[in-house]
Amino acid sequence: MEKRFYVTTPIYYVNAEPHIGHAYTTIVADVLNRFHRLMGYETYFLTGTDEHGDKIVQAAEAAGTDPKSYADRISALFRETWPKLNISHDDFIRTTEPRHVQVVQRILQKVYDNGDIYFDTYRGRYCVGCERFITDRELVDGKCPDHDTEPVEREEANYFFRMSAYQQWLIDHIEENPDFIRPERYKNEVLAFLRDPLEDLCISRPRERLSWGIPLPFDDRFVTYVWFDALINYVSALGYPDGALYEKFWPVAQHLIAKDILKPHGIYWPTMLKAAGIPPYRHLNVHGYWKINEGKMSKSRGTVVRPLDLAPLYGLDAFRYFLLREMVFGLDANFSEDALVQRLNADLANDLGNLFSRTLAMTGRYFGGQVPPFGDTEEPEDAALQSELERTVGIYREEIPQLAFHKALMAVWDVINAANKYIDRAAPWDLAKDPARRGRLQSVIRTLLEVNKTVAVLIAPFMPETAEKMLGRLGIKRTALDVRLDRDAAWGGLTEGTPVEKGEALFPRVDAKKPQASGERPVPPKAAAAKVAKAQELSAPAESPEQGALIGIEEFQRLDLRVAVVKTAERVPKSKKLVKLLVDMGETRQVVAGIGEHYAPEDLVGKTVVVVANLKPARLMGVESHGMILAAHHAEGLRLITTDAPAAPGSTVS
Ligand code: MSP
Repeated sequence: MEKRFYVTTPIYYVNAEPHIGHAYTTIVADVLNRFHRLMGYETYFLTGTDEHGDKIVQAAEAAGTDPKSYADRISALFRETWPKLNISHDDFIRTTEPRHVQVVQRILQKVYDNGDIYFDTYRGRYCVGCERFITDRELVDGKCPDHDTEPVEREEANYFFRMSAYQQWLIDHIEENPDFIRPERYKNEVLAFLRDPLEDLCISRPRERLSWGIPLPFDDRFVTYVWFDALINYVSALGYPDGALYEKFWPVAQHLIAKDILKPHGIYWPTMLKAAGIPPYRHLNVHGYWKINEGKMSKSRGTVVRPLDLAPLYGLDAFRYFLLREMVFGLDANFSEDALVQRLNADLANDLGNLFSRTLAMTGRYFGGQVPPFGDTEEPEDAALQSELERTVGIYREEIPQLAFHKALMAVWDVINAANKYIDRAAPWDLAKDPARRGRLQSVIRTLLEVNKTVAVLIAPFMPETAEKMLGRLGIKRTALDVRLDRDAAWGGLTEGTPVEKGEALFPRVDAKKPQASGERPVPPKAAAAKVAKAQELSAPAESPEQGALIGIEEFQRLDLRVAVVKTAERVPKSKKLVKLLVDMGETRQVVAGIGEHYAPEDLVGKTVVVVANLKPARLMGVESHGMILAAHHAEGLRLITTDAPAAPGSTVS
């Protein structure tokens, strides 16, 4: 079989900023991409943003801007987030790009020419959240269960895709390819849905009602319905119909989604492909939902967890590890910082961190910091550890393609724990006392170094920075993306005499007593953040920051500084200093600023300012403030910090 692998994430709507749900799917795609590279596959990884439709128009209106500027801004937020999470995507597609629009029109024309798109009038209930008409059977207490809103009655003349014609074909395809949709529960859900007659799919909107979409090539009074537009990204990004990438990576495609968009991916997309004469994708991989405090993430309850708040605080690799270890792919999981801290301390600082530092410390102490040759005495426990490692590699190779990431990681941790026990039993410190047992000591340390090396290779898809660090210290200088299992994990592969370097702890422990409950407070309080920073040795060790000591870039990066535009300003009653501002920073926020003696409120309106966005909310003279405006202290008073040319509200400042 060709060793080719193509993975996609959903293209995210640009009506919300990246949160932990988006981060999870994208990190899973990244792990799969890196894993397949590790196994010697040629890979391609696509993500992007979904930018047309009612939802985006509404969000843009609420933000007081036009859909294009709005989409540009939020799409950029996604694009900027992924490198910070070490995402190794090859392409980032936007549905507003001409390369995408052309392919959508081409496929529409093809399906229309084949007679599978027709014009008709439809009356039904439409859910704006889902961007589709929904059937009575899907309603719960008259409401859309995903959006908790009542769908609105709509009647419209529109174009329809003859999806019903492909119902039997789809049922047969799913039954003949039992892992087409996986895990099984989602396959069953799709099959259950297909037991009833499939309705044709409305694929257009009249332009007078929605102009923010792709015009139908055969009737430009209409634009495409969002799903017909969005799903096509998976082939438009490859240059369908004739691009070299398309030739290479279709149809080995694997789509990753959460259960919310199972129906469009499990039913619309394969039937659309069939009608367009394109072979179906290989797998649809469906995961569950991250919940916060056992509930849905919600903006109004303040339980939206933003990946860029957490990753710098606990370390990116710890964050990635936690997500992949904690969620059983396919099931829902609960997110809590408490659990993250526990895993960081137990699995990373204790088990892995200790194994690595003990091994390197002993290599330093007993062999001058150089990889020793295997000695002449091999004990059964050496072979036992080696075979435990082989077993782990076997499980790992089997489980990751099945998306059982937690099982693969558990197997890696089994070998880490076995190696820690092996140290205790072999007691190298005793062997070192007896020159006659030098050969045995060599074998023990070399065995441990080999185990650490293979562990580093195995964790590379999950924790690329840590893997690179570990391999580098073992004398293997490779970027995580260039690590290959066969070449780099082979037993005995380390070179005798290579200097190794102990370095600092891989994962310093974090104070577990005071985790930052992201549930109620998405942004960790400053004091707790400082505490973690200390635990992670990020702050200068000798002096405290209050004394003007230098800080690391990581500390600075904890500040979320944003460009904002003042929309309204009024004095806080009975205060000379305080002014209450409403600022637009992508979202509208209320901030109280102590600038009343230096600026008249009316002079502030329309000014571009810089806001510390992740400051704990405070009450100032009874008025809530959600951030702080930055100002320079000039001899004659305060001067607001602004930008020297226009910058979009919500832009980050660094
Ligand atoms: N634009 C569509 C997808 C079109 S794909 C051709 C869309 N966008 S979305 O922004 O709403 O993203 C939905 C996806 O985000 C989910 O399928 C999942 O990948 C991710 N998640 C959003 N919230 C999530 C959780 N709470 N938990 C896990 N993943 C979640 O739908």
